[in-house]
Amino acid sequence: MVSPERAPGVVLSDGIVSLRPVTASDAPDMAAGCQDPQAVRWTTVPTPYALSDAEEFISERAAGPTWADQPTWAVTTLPDDRWSGGVDLRPDGEGGAALGYLLAPWARGHGHAARALRLACGWAFSALSLEVVTWFAYAGNDASLQAARRVGFQIPPHVFRSYASQRGRRRDCWVGTLTPDDLVTSVRVAEARRDYLGPDLTRRELDVLRRLARGEANRAIAVELGISENTVKNHVRSILEKLQASSRSEAVVSALRLGIVALPT
Ligand SMILES: CC(C)(COP(=O)(O)OP(=O)(O)OC[C@H]1O[C@@H](n2cnc3c(N)ncnc32)[C@H](O)[C@@H]1OP(=O)(O)O)[C@@H](O)C(=O)NCCC(=O)NCCS
Repeated sequence: MVSPERAPGVVLSDGIVSLRPVTASDAPDMAAGCQDPQAVRWTTVPTPYALSDAEEFISERAAGPTWADQPTWAVTTLPDDRWSGGVDLRPDGEGGAALGYLLAPWARGHGHAARALRLACGWAFSALSLEVVTWFAYAGNDASLQAARRVGFQIPPHVFRSYASQRGRRRDCWVGTLTPDDLVTSVRVAEARRDYLGPDLTRRELDVLRRLARGEANRAIAVELGISENTVKNHVRSILEKLQASSRSEAVVSALRLGIVALPT
């Protein structure tokens, strides 16, 4: 069982997908998700997968003092808190970390994996100062390949023969790497495609939010953007609503946490 006094781990969200530490109550959903044939086919989950496997995994990986040694999250889709997948990072202690993930069948088909991976990798680059996240999938796992490419992983087209083993058998793999620059570029591309991962902010609201993060007053923002102070107020109201914040500073904190804005350097 997970000890209740364990420290909370890191929670991340883009307004649609959230990552939170796994908890004991996730075990039944995790057991169901890991018995899915696609999970068995493309990952190293034990098979057969029993409730006790999920309980054991959770008790090893739930939030605690050593959580950041091997960050492990449950993927949930808002407003639901149900375990709907998992993401984990295995840092190598030398600036790199290997990425692992799966989604439960009920959460697939909406691009949630890419969102979850962006959150996890973005956090790891800033909080763990990683230089690279490494990825591999058994050759043929097209859904995983597409999700990784969407996040910005650079993946050569050839297979790496017998690269990794699965339950005692070596398999050919696709292999890729993601640097902070790769992630930034992919987020920019996503923004340009109006596929922004944040909570549906308009381009103008994003402009205002970035200026709020710099501590600018409404009047200064209005002058800079060539709009009235009243219009700025309306944008701020809408930003607070979308970020579910009760004040400007709360909105900025929330935007920083979501990676929508960065602190001025
Ligand atoms: C890999 C996985 C996490 C992707 O989940 P997802 O976010 O629901 O992925 P989607 O269904 O949105 O598919 C991702 C992309 O692959 C595409 N895709 C899915 N199946 C595909 C297939 N068989 N052939 C080609 N493309 C495919 C989708 O169209 C989508 O493309 P888009 O990003 O351009 O929209 C999920 O399929 C899964 O859990 N699989 C089993 C476990 C696993 O493979 N884990 C990863 C191990 S490396």
